[in-house]
Amino acid sequence: MSEGAAVQAYIERARKAVGDKAIAMSCMQDEPWKLFEGKHFNTILEIGTCHGLSAMMLAHYSEVVITIDVVRHPLLEPTLAAFSPGVLDHITFIHVRNDHDKRLLVNQLDFDMAFVDGLHTQPACELDFLITKKCGSVLFHDYPCSSPNHRGVGLVVDAITEGTVERMPPFAWWRAGA
Ligand SMILES: C[S@@+](CC[C@H](N)C(=O)[O-])C[C@H]1O[C@@H](n2cnc3c(N)ncnc32)[C@H](O)[C@@H]1O
Repeated sequence: MSEGAAVQAYIERARKAVGDKAIAMSCMQDEPWKLFEGKHFNTILEIGTCHGLSAMMLAHYSEVVITIDVVRHPLLEPTLAAFSPGVLDHITFIHVRNDHDKRLLVNQLDFDMAFVDGLHTQPACELDFLITKKCGSVLFHDYPCSSPNHRGVGLVVDAITEGTVERMPPFAWWRAGA
């Protein structure tokens, strides 16, 4: 079974376990696994765990996934119960109190790719890019907007002047260098 097919099978297991709500709040509806085909990372840092669906997907393409959120969502545990230990063993879930603690933590971490899918306001997305860009590879979800009136991710990504940005709405992938 391909990694993409395995991810989709887990999404169906999660849907049976907790219903559509967890999936509806996830980037999984945008099939992000297609962007990861043929890629493998040592450590991916995710901002915005929610119910753990994207962390599960990222775990198929990385030795380690560290995922951070400021909220412990009630459907997180029941969703994780739908995943096998083989997947969960790759993921470290961390809940922080606020952006200050998140920044202190991320400054201590080494990772070679980041997935930014937290709060989608311009200041929040700006902070998440600032603290994760040291890894040289940052994928944003909800580019250019999370809804017609919420263009925070687009404003941040379109203002980046260093490196290169590959735009694949609703994703944008920034990489350091040419
Ligand atoms: C769209 S959901 C993430 C969905 C998840 N990445 C997925 O695709 O399954 C956004 C998450 O960001 C979290 N969040 C909100 N503000 C945040 C912040 N300041 N730092 C980190 N995460 C934040 C929310 O609690 C929520 O779980």
